[in-house]
Amino acid sequence: MDSMTHGADDYICSRKEFSEKLEPGTLAVISSGRPVQCSLDADYPFYPDNNFYYLTGLTEPDTLYAVFKNGAGETVEYLFLPEPEPEREKWTGIRMRADEAAALSGIENILPRSGAADFLADLADEAKIYAGDAGQAVHQRFAPGSADFSEALSRCQLADVGPVLARLRLIKKPWEIDLMKQAVNITARGLNDLLGELHPGMREYEAAAVFEYAVRRAGAELSFPTIAASGKNGPILHYETNRNKMKRGDLVMFDLGARYCGYAADVSRTYPVSGTYSTRQRKLYDVVLGVQKDLISAYRTGVSLVQLQETTVELFKCRLPLAGFKLPEAGIGAWYYHSVGHSLGLDTHDGTSRDLVLEPRMVITCEPGIYIAEENVGIRIEDDILITEKGPVNLTEKIVKDPARIELLMK
Ligand code: GLY
Ligand code: MN
Ligand code: MN
Repeated sequence: MDSMTHGADDYICSRKEFSEKLEPGTLAVISSGRPVQCSLDADYPFYPDNNFYYLTGLTEPDTLYAVFKNGAGETVEYLFLPEPEPEREKWTGIRMRADEAAALSGIENILPRSGAADFLADLADEAKIYAGDAGQAVHQRFAPGSADFSEALSRCQLADVGPVLARLRLIKKPWEIDLMKQAVNITARGLNDLLGELHPGMREYEAAAVFEYAVRRAGAELSFPTIAASGKNGPILHYETNRNKMKRGDLVMFDLGARYCGYAADVSRTYPVSGTYSTRQRKLYDVVLGVQKDLISAYRTGVSLVQLQETTVELFKCRLPLAGFKLPEAGIGAWYYHSVGHSLGLDTHDGTSRDLVLEPRMVITCEPGIYIAEENVGIRIEDDILITEKGPVNLTEKIVKDPARIELLMK
């Protein structure tokens, strides 16, 4: 697929939108975060803070983006980049240099990270408001440290720019949608490979590995740890262990996704381990699929996630008995116990609030499911839906969910 290019101009545009939302007199500082050590000689893989990445396109650790909007509404921005450490680079590789960071992000003022606290203390002296990202883990935030800075901050009102950035990130730009489509394509390839290899006796982790191999070969990451939940694990929404041997007659629910250039896909499909759904599994699958398809057509501008959740519950309450399933005495909540969807983007759950109202250019998952623990059954079908003026566009449309086609592909 031809892909759009994106670059510094796009990040300049995102930062302009961000700074327009700041009050005059605000100094905002967003940190990329720091690697977390996992053993004496190794760190956990480093992922930059997604708000930092959204604004800069950079993935360097321990780097700060700062923007100051003065009382007249003029903005000036800075990037504080760690200085090269030649000895360390012999072990862990060459770090980004200032000219490269400037070219990729479009930020002109690149300063050494070691001078950030003093420099920002002077700016904070001029500011009325100091804004950080309260959603970021405390140990990953910029900790000013110096006495001067504490003094300057004591004169500032403190603000959280997390909600401003969450709101901006909800509305996807064309190049972001393009990256999400690429994440979907990789996810589709991985699921296709998986479908071709699935068989009774295989371990859940083997199936997950087939998918993950395709993702890693494509130069992508995982959106989140792959969920491969067979049989009695199906009703565990975010099942993690993936160690069970998959048995003939069981269903297996995969909830997985590739993350490409930071942007996530999030897809669930439920397959019969043997290659054929039992009559009862098929009936239940058809109910979930029918509900999911009807819900997708309701993913329109002006509809709220709360309304969609209510519709899901109503649809299940009506269709399950029609298909011959006696509803649980405790209520439908015993079989359906999660939200129908969430915003998707750089984070798998991207700036979602439960009272979100859909708008064009949002990408929202549609993922109804039915989980009957007594029957060792969990069926979830999840697609990623782009909201447009003309109606919903299913980005994951081509990932097979029709049960007859699934059975055919497993032959
Ligand atoms: N994979 C997590 C979710 O579907 O929300
Ligand atoms: Mn999912
Ligand atoms: Mn999801």
